[in-house]
Amino acid sequence: MSRPVDKSRRKLLLGGLALGALGTAGVLKPKDIGENHRPYFQRISDALDRAGYAQPSLVIDKAVLQANIAVLKNNIGSRYNYRVVAKSLPSLPLLETVMAGAESNRLMLFHQPFINQVARQLPNADVLLGKPMPVAAAANFYRAYNGEGFDAAHQLQWLLDSPARLRQYQQLAHQLGVSMRINIELDVGLHRGGVNEDSDLAQMLKIIEADPTLTFSGLMGYEPHVAKVPGNKLAQRDKAMAVYAGKVTVAQQVLGRGIDDLTLNAAGSPTYQYYLDGDYPPNELSAGSCLVKPTDFDIPTLADHQPASFIATPVIKALEHTEIPGVDGIGKLMAVWNPNRARTFFTYGGFWKANPESPAGLSVNPLFGRSTNQEMLNGSSNINLQPDDWIFLRPNQSEFVFLQFGDIAVYDKGEIVDSWPVLGSSSV
Ligand SMILES: Cc1ncc(COP(=O)(O)O)c(C=O)c1O
Repeated sequence: MSRPVDKSRRKLLLGGLALGALGTAGVLKPKDIGENHRPYFQRISDALDRAGYAQPSLVIDKAVLQANIAVLKNNIGSRYNYRVVAKSLPSLPLLETVMAGAESNRLMLFHQPFINQVARQLPNADVLLGKPMPVAAAANFYRAYNGEGFDAAHQLQWLLDSPARLRQYQQLAHQLGVSMRINIELDVGLHRGGVNEDSDLAQMLKIIEADPTLTFSGLMGYEPHVAKVPGNKLAQRDKAMAVYAGKVTVAQQVLGRGIDDLTLNAAGSPTYQYYLDGDYPPNELSAGSCLVKPTDFDIPTLADHQPASFIATPVIKALEHTEIPGVDGIGKLMAVWNPNRARTFFTYGGFWKANPESPAGLSVNPLFGRSTNQEMLNGSSNINLQPDDWIFLRPNQSEFVFLQFGDIAVYDKGEIVDSWPVLGSSSV
């Protein structure tokens, strides 16, 4: 008489059958890709330990950052002005490092509290807004701005996208008795708003020209789609630039003068290298992310930039096996199929917009679920991480991720050499 199979054995058997079926269906069994830290990450680990770090931290490798700045500077040369995209490098000392290295005082800002902080701390900056803000945000800027040092009437360009918003800003300028410089957002193919119709552009220019409190300061046409849409990227670039050129012509006709001396902005990290050869309407290019290179920027046009930012987080618990609550044996089965699920590491914090980077072969467990408190990562038995060791992840983007860890740990040639506060979001 056969013995009744208990529940967990039955699950294991069924699981075994499922694994067998996967094999016969030709699904390839994953190879063991687990490795310990390469010397580069071991050196950062040791530096973090020596500096007494013990919580999730955003680390910038200063030497790599500086090399990226040199690459960008060399690429852009003297052909264009360079504008630093501050939302992608949201820390004043980080911005100062980039501005000094790239010899540019031009910043693109996207958040009202950041404008006030920049006005206070970087009074020589030339600021162009990267998106149109509700007029109330502009009012909040002027409320918190004490007028010292930074001269908003000359150093700040509000970005506006429609005649209606321009009228709101005009009214605010009159109410406050301030002069405003207005840059006009163009839709050059991204279709994220911005002026489309020539008649809207003409109307806005006429309103500005007729009002002594307003000054037209230029155009901005952002075109990241050029690097993303399938097909011929250069044809996309040319299409975007044809739209840009058409708008420059309209502006010159309405104003009766050339506008080459104004701020004619375009590009971002993925696209700036499309403008290094040839003749195009913009006279300045923006970029930020390519200087720290999160994973979203692992693209062919940025092959000459290197990753300079990592999340470092301590291992809280290192387990020899993987167990999933409520489903006995499934963790072991996962490990039988995939050797990279053999061990389990719980990290201090988690669920960031980031991918595990070192040691190699770590991944999130798809069944256990994500956690911002203690995240489960699995890796092979080749990985000999212990509690309190460091795991490194690469952020997918910098703009939001950099703000989640407090001060940035600045690593330089084997040591943590500095600590850079990030920009704050309180409304003043
Ligand atoms: C208007 C504008 N310009 C430029 C950029 C490029 O930024 P990054 O170089 O960080 O991709 C952005 C990013 O969103 C943007 O919105």
